[in-house]
Amino acid sequence: MIVEASAPSNIALIKYMGKIEGTGNRPANASISYSLEHLRTWVTLEPLSGAADEWAPLERAGLAAPELSAVGREKFLKHFARMKEALGVSGFFRIRSANNFPSDCGLASSASSFAALTLAAAQLQPGRLDVSELSRLSRQGSGSSCRSLFTPWALWEGEGAESVEIPTGTLLHAAVIVSAGVKEVSSSQAHERVTTSPRFEGRVARAHERLRRLISALKESDWRVAFDTCWDEFVDMHELFETSQPAFGYRRADSKAVVDAAKHIWSFKGDGPLVTMDAGPNVHLLFRPDQRELAEKMVKFHREKHKVITSWGGWT
Ligand code: PMV
Repeated sequence: MIVEASAPSNIALIKYMGKIEGTGNRPANASISYSLEHLRTWVTLEPLSGAADEWAPLERAGLAAPELSAVGREKFLKHFARMKEALGVSGFFRIRSANNFPSDCGLASSASSFAALTLAAAQLQPGRLDVSELSRLSRQGSGSSCRSLFTPWALWEGEGAESVEIPTGTLLHAAVIVSAGVKEVSSSQAHERVTTSPRFEGRVARAHERLRRLISALKESDWRVAFDTCWDEFVDMHELFETSQPAFGYRRADSKAVVDAAKHIWSFKGDGPLVTMDAGPNVHLLFRPDQRELAEKMVKFHREKHKVITSWGGWT
């Protein structure tokens, strides 16, 4: 019997950055994310008569097999072993996976791929573990994947994520791909390095205060406060990177130009998208459903120079 599952990626607005050592990806601070339903991973599992689990690309029209490095493959197989143990599943399987977005487009796929693997494994013993337990397990594979089990808004504090009711409707998402190159410093390394920054002191309190402010702004439809809070948060995270020892950074001149263009819109319209950046040079924009026209204009503008991936119109 072949089982199959898929899961979305997610973008954090309050970031998971820094973890408690030796705890299987328990975060230093709570985080909140919005699911990116249009950026997904599919995983299938088929029984294998071998002596070890294997990974292979899932070949299917419209999907692109991720280019898993040896380390990436190892991490994926290790997570599957963890899942089998938690579920009491024996035997070996061939894991196939693929994304509906290319792996060389500068968007991390670890959240969607680990969440999809967690959900596929759960189908080997349906009903054995509830979604909170699955989220905790997924976290141990890749931290941010624990949020991909809850959609659209997920709050992650401690062991695993949970759903959070925020009445924004379906947001429009655009990712401006400033660079699709492989990052020199991975997010796993970033989690370790930020603790060496003098600014790490007070980071947990700052993140928690912003989390509280963001949730209440979104609940009260105060988009301006939401924008300011998201802005302060990604700048804080990037400043941690840039003041770590040794320092590193992902922001490029083009990243700055894209975020400044959004700030400019805000300054003359008094309105605009939420802006955030992950541990990479690309810029994520989130628009309310009623901002469709503005979203299309901004995307058209950025497409003169960059590839932009949108939740409503695909790729270019
Ligand atoms: O889940 P990881 O270890 O790839 O870390 C993700 C860290 C950020 O993407 C930078 C922030 C986040 O909360 O997703």
